[in-house]
Amino acid sequence: MAQILLSLGASEEDFTVLRKVSENLESDPTLPFRKSRNGRFCLDAENHRVYRTEHQPFVLSSDEDFVRHDSAQRRTFDELGEELADNTALRALLVFKYLVINDVSTAPRPDLDYDCSRWVCTVFNLRTVTNSELIGEPALEGVHCDGVDHTMTTFLGGENMTADSAITFIHDMRETNARRWHETDPGYLLDRRQHRDFLDTLLLVDHERKHSLTPVRAVNPAEPATRDMLIFFTRKPALDGHISHPYDSLAAHRTQTASTALPLEITEPPRVVVG
Ligand SMILES: [Fe+2]
Repeated sequence: MAQILLSLGASEEDFTVLRKVSENLESDPTLPFRKSRNGRFCLDAENHRVYRTEHQPFVLSSDEDFVRHDSAQRRTFDELGEELADNTALRALLVFKYLVINDVSTAPRPDLDYDCSRWVCTVFNLRTVTNSELIGEPALEGVHCDGVDHTMTTFLGGENMTADSAITFIHDMRETNARRWHETDPGYLLDRRQHRDFLDTLLLVDHERKHSLTPVRAVNPAEPATRDMLIFFTRKPALDGHISHPYDSLAAHRTQTASTALPLEITEPPRVVVG
């Protein structure tokens, strides 16, 4: 993955920034064991650019197979800082995702605009923390979908995690939402994967597979265990009637205006240009 990202314009210096960027996370609107920030980007296939869009609240509902205490609640996350939003490795991950997903047809979701060539990508930087008081759950909601077309997850690092922490299980869509990973039907279990090394990345077709994860557990219970991730949710823009429609602006961010070229063809080496 590092080689791919370097070929897409990432710099080694920005890999170093990425490894440490989760130290800048402070809080989460609804989960006590998590620290988070998010930012929105438009993958603009028509104009071959990735640009940052204005900050918006975020919402996921049970209609999108996300069943949790904060389903359908409007959540406002701290914004990504420029050290991540303008990081060449982050931009290369966005370009990589675009190259994989664009022009691939998948099971459509209701009330998304599949005639639009643009993709809305919400990027989350998340730190899940387990300590003596709390167990960090990368997916407290159990079996779920993310309400998008494609979910991509990239591992940045972890400390003090046991070997069975944060294993991702992939389920058939017939699996029941909100079941804990250990309560699921083995007949519907399609795969299990684990991010272990820096930049390990998993890409799911979110409306064709459900997923769940094991919690983060500490090797040394006297010390906190942490798991740092980037999550890339990508979907077509929401139509009127979709719960995210009021928060789906494609207007450029007012102050963070750097954009990145999208390659026309997968064979064309792109340059990640910030500015
Ligand atoms: Fe998820």
